Amino acid sequence: MKILAIETSCDDTAVAVLEEKQKKLKILSNIVSSQVKLHAQYGGVYPFLAKREHQKNLPLVFKKVMKQAGNPKIDAIAITSGPGLEPCLWQGINFANDLTQKLKAPLFPINHVEAHILANFIDRGPTSIKFPAVGLVVSGGHTQLILMKKFLDYKILGETRDDAAGECFDKVARILGLGYPGGPAIAKFAKNKKNLTSLKLPRPMIKQKNYDFSFSGLKTAVLYEFRKQTPETQKSRQYLEALCAEVQQAIIDVLLSKTRKAVDDYGAKTVVLGGGVTANDELRKQFKKAFNVLMPQKKFCTDNAVMTAITAYFHLKKGDKPKGEIEARADLTL
Ligand code: KG4
Ligand code: ZN
Repeated sequence: MKILAIETSCDDTAVAVLEEKQKKLKILSNIVSSQVKLHAQYGGVYPFLAKREHQKNLPLVFKKVMKQAGNPKIDAIAITSGPGLEPCLWQGINFANDLTQKLKAPLFPINHVEAHILANFIDRGPTSIKFPAVGLVVSGGHTQLILMKKFLDYKILGETRDDAAGECFDKVARILGLGYPGGPAIAKFAKNKKNLTSLKLPRPMIKQKNYDFSFSGLKTAVLYEFRKQTPETQKSRQYLEALCAEVQQAIIDVLLSKTRKAVDDYGAKTVVLGGGVTANDELRKQFKKAFNVLMPQKKFCTDNAVMTAITAYFHLKKGDKPKGEIEARADLTL
């Protein structure tokens, strides 16, 4: 069986072909065409600009992926239907709809948050997860703690009440003039740990007895802290390194603490990470130390279509049926 997957929920045009042969999975082709350069000049993603790029890129990326995969017969098409930026989702859905005619293959709508979780099983079997498990999806659009009592079964325990953790990285990087996307830029500056000073930022909601998050206050705290400084200090490498290390640690502390609470309350045996922010080296290190944790390879943490394909594969195996009419659902939940 060969699954073609398309993912356009945000600013990456991603297409992949996944093959299953005697229960073994093989990535035949995987391309992520990034719009980072385009959005970097604005310090963030503009949905209609992103949509236009998807429109331009999709036919080219699709052609390239199919060629790399050896132009195989496609048995199923997987398309991200949400959550995400609505104009971008529609672009992918319309393209995929056309393909169902051309390729004569059924179409499966895929939940992007679920795909971030299932990215863990691109290179390991699902038996590596012990239930109950707690999932933590941290991306540019989401920060969610999820209880999983069995495979493909999800209950949202808590989520962010305002900005997602990735959004906080991106907005802080913008304040500090470090470019877009903010996560990798801040992580780079934060590496120089010896510069950690007495600079202290808040850990929002860390003491509250729930599983919810809030990151917009942290961004505001950075803004006030930064504004207090002279232009010389604001440009000083040492200051920026200390501030980046502290922001990164504040985000990690909150994520660790809320995950710890969920793990203890539900007796979770595995923690499953996913989403762009979980590509962060320091976060990976500290979660490994704290929990029995599964995390996707770094390249499968950020948006890609292999995770979309594997999600379709598991749902197909479970017996889920394709959908005729697919709609973009910006706020789709698990
Ligand atoms: O999952 P993703 O590619 O797209 C969404 O579904 O949102 O996540 C993108 C987010 C961005 O906010 C980016 O700054 C963040 O992931 N990110 C990181 C790192 N790499 C990407 N954040 C922290 N450290 C990183 N190394
Ligand atoms: Zn994503």
